[in-house]
Amino acid sequence: MKNADFLTGITPSGTPHLGNYVGAIRPAVETSKDPNLSSYYFLADYHSLIKNHDPKMRRQSTLEIAAAWIALGLDHENCVFYRQSDIPEIPELTWILTCLTAKGLMNRAHAYKAAVQENEAQEHKDPDKGITMGLFSYPILMAADILMFNARKVPVGKDQVQHLEMARDIAGRFNHVYKKLFILPEEVVDESASVLSGLDGRKMSKSYNNYIPLFDTEKRLRKMIMKIKTNSLGPDEPKDPDTCTLFSIYKAFASPKEAQDMADRYRAGIAWGTAKQELFEYINEILKAPRQQYNELMGNPGDIEAILKKGAAKAREFSVPFLEKIRTSIGITSLG
Ligand code: TRP
Repeated sequence: MKNADFLTGITPSGTPHLGNYVGAIRPAVETSKDPNLSSYYFLADYHSLIKNHDPKMRRQSTLEIAAAWIALGLDHENCVFYRQSDIPEIPELTWILTCLTAKGLMNRAHAYKAAVQENEAQEHKDPDKGITMGLFSYPILMAADILMFNARKVPVGKDQVQHLEMARDIAGRFNHVYKKLFILPEEVVDESASVLSGLDGRKMSKSYNNYIPLFDTEKRLRKMIMKIKTNSLGPDEPKDPDTCTLFSIYKAFASPKEAQDMADRYRAGIAWGTAKQELFEYINEILKAPRQQYNELMGNPGDIEAILKKGAAKAREFSVPFLEKIRTSIGITSLG
């Protein structure tokens, strides 16, 4: 296996929704098909231990996310699709990197600082109340995910940019102290990727509980879309597409020409009921075939397991010999 041109992780912490599709899954599916690129996608199940202590939920989410990515067309023969916990080299590298990472660097991590600030705001005696070492050293595990495959480019959301800076910092430290083995990875933040609005108009997200699941039944999908908040303009009154959640969702799926036509119909006063029904029909058409495949996969979790195991074997063709090199360079090596 070749090192990763592109690598990204998905934390299994919920049910895949429309926002995940347009923001992360759709672009990754495209990249996964490129025969000239080596791309790595993985389920970051060790990362999910940080926030969630429910084993059933972790297993279910891992299953749903893997099934969703496969059903939506991820080319798992061409790319490397695996589960983090199937790669024992990753936690091993995590410890090696932990011993090179300045504690001060971790003190500056946004997620940790936000948790401390929250404790201070609540006037807790201990500013570290409820903060685990997992949360604190999360960026080191993420650096190991990336450096284990010497990834060049890492597609992430804006909130992850600091973690990439830290991964570069840690890689540079290793290269300086031991041997120049690591490529310094770069984030790819796609500004043009759609950020979808949710039912209430805020960003569609699990934490706001305003999301539309990708693979509910047709009936439930329709019901969710009918729930999207609109204003009280009546039928025939001209409407502004640019401030409308319904339209922004339509636009994320439709071609530019279709979006333009819909925008014209807004200005001509399309009724909310009609707009919602059309959005439902449009999205449902796109999701119909993947939904069927998703349901088949969910009924045969052994097939998903087999795909992930195959992916892990491919990934380890790289990580096993590379970790051996790393171990040799730090003086953990055969004595005989
Ligand atoms: N921290 C990422 C997130 O919350 C998920 C992730 C884990 C990841 N390891 C990674 C992303 C490595 C890119 C590369 O979105």
